[in-house]
Amino acid sequence: MKGKKVILGVTGSIAAYKAAIFVRLLIKAGAEVKVIMTSAATEFITPLTLATLSKNPVSIDFFDSSNGDWDSHVELGLWADVMVIAPATANTMAKMANGIACNLLLTTYLSARCPVFVAAAMDLDMYQHPSTLHNIEILQSYGNQFIEASSGELASGLIGQGRMEEPELILAKLQSFFDGKKKLIGKSVLVTAGPTYEPIDPVRFIGNHSSGKMGYAIAEELAKQGAKVSLVSGPTSLKASHPNIETILVQSAQEMYDASTQVFENTDVAIMSAAVADYTPAIQLDKKMKRKSKELHIELVATKDIAAELGARKKPKQLLIGFALETNNEEENARKKILSKNLDFIVLNSLQDAGAGFGKDTNKITIIDKNNKKEIFELKSKTEVAYDIIQKMLSME
Ligand code: CTP
Repeated sequence: MKGKKVILGVTGSIAAYKAAIFVRLLIKAGAEVKVIMTSAATEFITPLTLATLSKNPVSIDFFDSSNGDWDSHVELGLWADVMVIAPATANTMAKMANGIACNLLLTTYLSARCPVFVAAAMDLDMYQHPSTLHNIEILQSYGNQFIEASSGELASGLIGQGRMEEPELILAKLQSFFDGKKKLIGKSVLVTAGPTYEPIDPVRFIGNHSSGKMGYAIAEELAKQGAKVSLVSGPTSLKASHPNIETILVQSAQEMYDASTQVFENTDVAIMSAAVADYTPAIQLDKKMKRKSKELHIELVATKDIAAELGARKKPKQLLIGFALETNNEEENARKKILSKNLDFIVLNSLQDAGAGFGKDTNKITIIDKNNKKEIFELKSKTEVAYDIIQKMLSME
């Protein structure tokens, strides 16, 4: 964190007291810190405490009434290498998600061009309310890094999720973000995502339920951390927005194979999250098939295994990461795939886990690497899962 310019936004939650510890940790790690508080936050911790610890005046209002100076949110936003809002209340998150700009912290957030981390803190029922969950999704879709609250005893006396993550862990996330960013700048990564559609005739196809959300989240996360991403995507309703992502749209397994093998030549890492059809109709009719007999048999032939092909072509410095969605004998099947496709590691999803699988915004993964090291992760948002996969990828280099 040495020399990194950090804006810390503090909002009105009891967890605001942790801001003092967090500022101290940031300063000790060599960061420059400027604190912006909402007026509600000043009820929980004094600006004097945070000004003393950060060695900088604390900003609260648009205007400093003592000397008539204007606090420029645009300048603050441009100054920062990173903005961290910790604690972020449900109220502030709702305003951030909706572009409301009624205090200096929010106007600075809207002007900031740097990465933004949001560490939530609130009561457990507020945290689980559909509007809060929806706002978290919106904030993540804008590219903010969301730091989930942890579970434990809350100020209300209730026990559950809502405690702001510990300052040490937030700092660790920032540090790995900056380390990762350094490692990812200049790296090119191929990501496959979504389903494939195997045409039967001009009207019908054989497809699957993959939404592409996991692959798109990985692509966005890589791009945010500075990588150049080629996203080879089957048909989905998603759109990648980051300028570092080049999206190559394909339909069939053969088209995905052609695009991926071409791109792989010049990439450092390939992450194969697409749900590629294993079989395709042997013949694709050029006219619509008519309903005739009572039974219909369509002959299918195996598609090419893209991951296995890239595994065979892999050069010593390239990394290849696969996915496996299994319903039974999960780990055994995943390990077989590491060998048969020459993967460096595999991300295993089980359809037996609630919250994991097609179309969901969350996922629960286990990563198994070629050295047989196994890591089991909690159920998390797909953005956070993407982050974990990238951390593992960086650790394998
Ligand atoms: N994969 C691929 N090309 C294929 C099939 C799969 O690139 N034709 C990739 C997937 O993107 C995934 C990994 O291989 O990263 C495992 O996919 P999966 O469908 O689980 O494995 P299969 O090899 O198809 O085995 P099976 O369907 O029998 O479990």
